[in-house]
Amino acid sequence: MGRQNRRSHKSRDSLAWKLKKVKARKVYHQPTIPTNPMTLNDEDATLDLMCVLFCIMTLYLGPALWNFLKRKLLVNPKSIIVDTYAFLELIIDHRSRNASIFTNSNPNDMNHLQKAREGRLSVAHGYLDEISRNWSGYLLSWVEVLKMVDAHGAAAAVQQIHNEIKSGSKTPLDVILVSFTKPHFMNEGHEGFLQRKETDLTQEQYLKAIRIKMALYKTMILNLAPALRSENLRRTGRNRTDSELDCQNLLFDLLEFWLQKQQHPDTMANVDLIEKAKHGRNVLCHESLDPILANWENFLLYWSQLCVLISDPTAARAIKEDRIKLKRRINIPLTGLISRPTLKFKSLANNHCNPNSQSRKLKIMLTRKPT
Ligand SMILES: *[C@@H]1O[C@H](CO)[C@@H](O)[C@H](O)[C@H]1NC(C)=O
Ligand SMILES: *[C@@H]1O[C@H](CO)[C@@H](O)[C@H](O)[C@H]1NC(C)=O
Ligand SMILES: *[C@@H]1O[C@H](CO)[C@@H](O)[C@H](O)[C@H]1NC(C)=O
Repeated sequence: MGRQNRRSHKSRDSLAWKLKKVKARKVYHQPTIPTNPMTLNDEDATLDLMCVLFCIMTLYLGPALWNFLKRKLLVNPKSIIVDTYAFLELIIDHRSRNASIFTNSNPNDMNHLQKAREGRLSVAHGYLDEISRNWSGYLLSWVEVLKMVDAHGAAAAVQQIHNEIKSGSKTPLDVILVSFTKPHFMNEGHEGFLQRKETDLTQEQYLKAIRIKMALYKTMILNLAPALRSENLRRTGRNRTDSELDCQNLLFDLLEFWLQKQQHPDTMANVDLIEKAKHGRNVLCHESLDPILANWENFLLYWSQLCVLISDPTAARAIKEDRIKLKRRINIPLTGLISRPTLKFKSLANNHCNPNSQSRKLKIMLTRKPT
């Protein structure tokens, strides 16, 4: 057998192996199938709400859980992975065995924790029908969990956002996020800089990473996910019956479709592209911060190339434009706050930072209206 032959034999095996693995995956869907699909306008409104929920997880819930687990010596203090999913699982496991894990335990802890986990699942998997029904319950469960882990400043901030949306005084697009929970791995300006470990992110790097994360999520859910769903419905000849926009499922499904095609260099390249796009989604939803800082431009590039592959040039262009916009915006540092933490800034309880009091702000506006 020649060298060439051996190589192609090997890659065919690996494609077959991939297909086998992909076919063996567990597929999950929204727990409650709606009787009628949402209108596309209602979907749009729910997408905005879901973005707010993702931002809240990124700014408050994830880092507050990290800090708690670090205090309890349940997380590697050198890790900068902020994975709300893994953290909630871990906390649920510990709370089910030991009620004294929290400063104040309550018989309802497990209910709140489970609801919090469902909320995170719905946000990461684009369960719009669930979000439109349960968003308020999700947010309130996150408030309760934040209180459980002694992050009272963050709990108050999330409660306020909940109340503003619930009362109708703000739409999700009008919510302005001006504070965040500081994870302990983020160093504290100049003093911290001197003692910085390799795994620490500076405050500037941290804020950059979470701003990128929120922007990536927004473009994923507004552009990539609907493009993937349209392609899926077209390809399978089905009508839309619900409002699930789960990039993970949709990418797996597309991968399975391409893995079944005749082996050809183009096929291989497309399989590779789908895998890279899927990796970007996973990094985003499981929140390792360093690959986000290092590779965010590539993730956006893969997503837009993928939209070209599935014949959605409009979505491809939108993602490309988001990439250009983000690149321009993200290099404007949020200084002032970063290099000179004031006394006021430092005295805030619970590592809850409110950069609002600073001259330059972390200000996340979700609005599409001119500001
Ligand atoms: C329960 O958690 C508390 C607080 O973390 C700890 O002091 C105690 O040893 C734990 N009990 C058991 C049985 O693990
Ligand atoms: C979500 O809403 C459905 C229907 O209203 C309800 O049965 C379910 O318990 C809710 N889930 C949560 C987590 O609130
Ligand atoms: C999709 O919807 C159209 C229009 O309502 C209908 O004519 C068609 O039969 C449906 N197709 C399937 C596969 O349900």
